[in-house]
Amino acid sequence: MNKPIVEIAGTGRYTPERILTNEDLSKMVTTSDEWITERTGIKERRISSDTETLAYMGRIAAEQALEEAGLAADQIDTILFATASPDRLLPSTACDLQAALGAENAAAMDIGAACSGFIFAVTVAEGMISSGKAKNVLVIGGERLSRIVDYEDRSTCILFGDGVGAAIVRPATGDRGVVSTYLKSDGRLAELLWRPAGGSSIPASAESVEDKSIYMQMAGPEVFKHAVKSMTDACDRAMEMAGLTGDDIDVMIPHQANVRIIKATAKHAGMPMEKVVVNVDRFGNTSAASIPIALDEQIRAGTIKKGDTVLLVAFGAGFTWGSMVVKW
Ligand code: ACO
Repeated sequence: MNKPIVEIAGTGRYTPERILTNEDLSKMVTTSDEWITERTGIKERRISSDTETLAYMGRIAAEQALEEAGLAADQIDTILFATASPDRLLPSTACDLQAALGAENAAAMDIGAACSGFIFAVTVAEGMISSGKAKNVLVIGGERLSRIVDYEDRSTCILFGDGVGAAIVRPATGDRGVVSTYLKSDGRLAELLWRPAGGSSIPASAESVEDKSIYMQMAGPEVFKHAVKSMTDACDRAMEMAGLTGDDIDVMIPHQANVRIIKATAKHAGMPMEKVVVNVDRFGNTSAASIPIALDEQIRAGTIKKGDTVLLVAFGAGFTWGSMVVKW
């Protein structure tokens, strides 16, 4: 196995209090608990209140991760906030979080890689640490997708939820840490999963609200096919780069989009479901937050133990996809 450059020294998470169940959704659009459960495996998702902003949720998740790592906020030199639903388009949510956290010595920026954002951000942190530009990096994956979902569109509103996960990435001191990462994108497929308006090409306006282009739009079956193919390939790449096979992996954490995508990816990657983490039933698809939330849950539950080899894999809008092997 490769010698790691960085390790994940602490994790944290925050998920909003409010639960939106399939039953609740069936009163809002024409759907049913049975349809959603069968097609997606999702039973409920968390929805943020007006005060549960990304900066607010991020601060709580970050404080947990800092405590685990034995660091104070002012020891953080870089904040990377992976999100597709920033609190504001300007300035970055990372800067809002920096202020909320009191991380006065940090440089802060957002990373836009949708559901793959956490893996992209950890890889950027690895590069910055490897080049000597950073030492203690706070990586956050956080979303408030409920704010950009059309709750009259039953093909998307059933899928998404809100939440934040955090990780401290710092130089590896031994054999534990990130042993391989793989990143890929294909911008030609952007319109299969996108939010057409709200940026500078089609600014937010009465028209873009009226024609709903301000909301996320998705070609579900197309996304499904690409997700399985790309995540399977990404699993193979990260394991190959680490000199490992599926037998060497103790725990696999796939992006939590849909239980059918997770099962199909695990099957193609030759990974038995006993090794695969699933929490999409409780949180839905939280995009960039899904992997760090699941990671933190597993660590705190003791399911991921010292010495375990963990495979992370994601796919999202862009399209973007990526994977990572971490020796715990
Ligand atoms: N309740 C009831 N019926 C529905 C619902 C709903 N919530 N949504 C769609 N339908 C209907 C459709 O209108 C369609 O009806 P029709 O046959 O009369 O036209 C029928 O169900 C089948 O629609 P499909 O879109 O073909 O259903 P599919 O089995 O593909 O499931 C789903 C849809 C769940 C969205 C699936 O395509 C999927 O999970 N795709 C992946 C999308 C995803 O996870 N994106 C997240 C971002 S990327 C990522 O994170 C990986």
